[in-house]
Amino acid sequence: MKPHYKRVLIKLSGEAFKGNRDYGIDPEFLTFIANEIKEAYDLGTEICIVIGGGNIFRGLSASEKGMDRVRADYSGMLATLMNALALEDALLKVGLHPRVQSALEIKEVAEPFILGKALRHLKKGRIVIFAGGTGNPYFTTDTTASLRAAEIKADGLFKATQVDGVYTDDPVKNPKATKIDAIKFLDVLKQELKVMDASALSLCMDNQIPIVVFDLHKKGNIKKALLGESIGTKIA
Ligand code: GTP
Repeated sequence: MKPHYKRVLIKLSGEAFKGNRDYGIDPEFLTFIANEIKEAYDLGTEICIVIGGGNIFRGLSASEKGMDRVRADYSGMLATLMNALALEDALLKVGLHPRVQSALEIKEVAEPFILGKALRHLKKGRIVIFAGGTGNPYFTTDTTASLRAAEIKADGLFKATQVDGVYTDDPVKNPKATKIDAIKFLDVLKQELKVMDASALSLCMDNQIPIVVFDLHKKGNIKKALLGESIGTKIA
């Protein structure tokens, strides 16, 4: 089986890391996702990962409740670092060679983000987990994923999330909403479909990086996406 992609960036939902819990990291989910990534890695594609932090701390909601936005966003960035360390540990346990790079400099905990080193890790067969967002407040982890995907010249961005694709409307509120299999970047922006924020989408559009949105809880989905099988929604 030949993968459809040479190098991908996988954006993992932070919310997913809490599994069935209300908060934090579910070890069972970590084992599941590590095995999913192992199966995908074995196809031969180079893999980088960005994780959200919503299972631990959500910057935007905290700022809506009155916390200073900049402090709230930095807390969210630290949450992504916790998730990154947990995932690094889980990937090591399934025999992979992960490296965490942080956009916030915390040298005792992780390597700093250095693009050249990240590329070298990939060439050596390592999986690079980019933590700490972009290192700046006011940016989402989706934008981090797009930015890093452009920097490493990924030929695809996988948004592995809690839903099975992009819908014409919110399927919870509108029973007539239907799933979209394929759509153009401009149409996502024009129709204001809730996939990613506009800066994340524009970065991928400008750099011609297709996005595949799919359900990360379904076993085999990451591998299927790498093989170019039609799952979820493809934005190109
Ligand atoms: P090559 O094999 O030459 O690509 O280098 P390497 O990355 O294996 O060597 P390096 O000396 O950079 O890293 C050795 C170990 O130190 C690895 O486990 C890295 O994750 C870790 N490491 C490297 N730089 C840092 C850092 O700034 N902070 C922390 N905490 N660990 C680091």
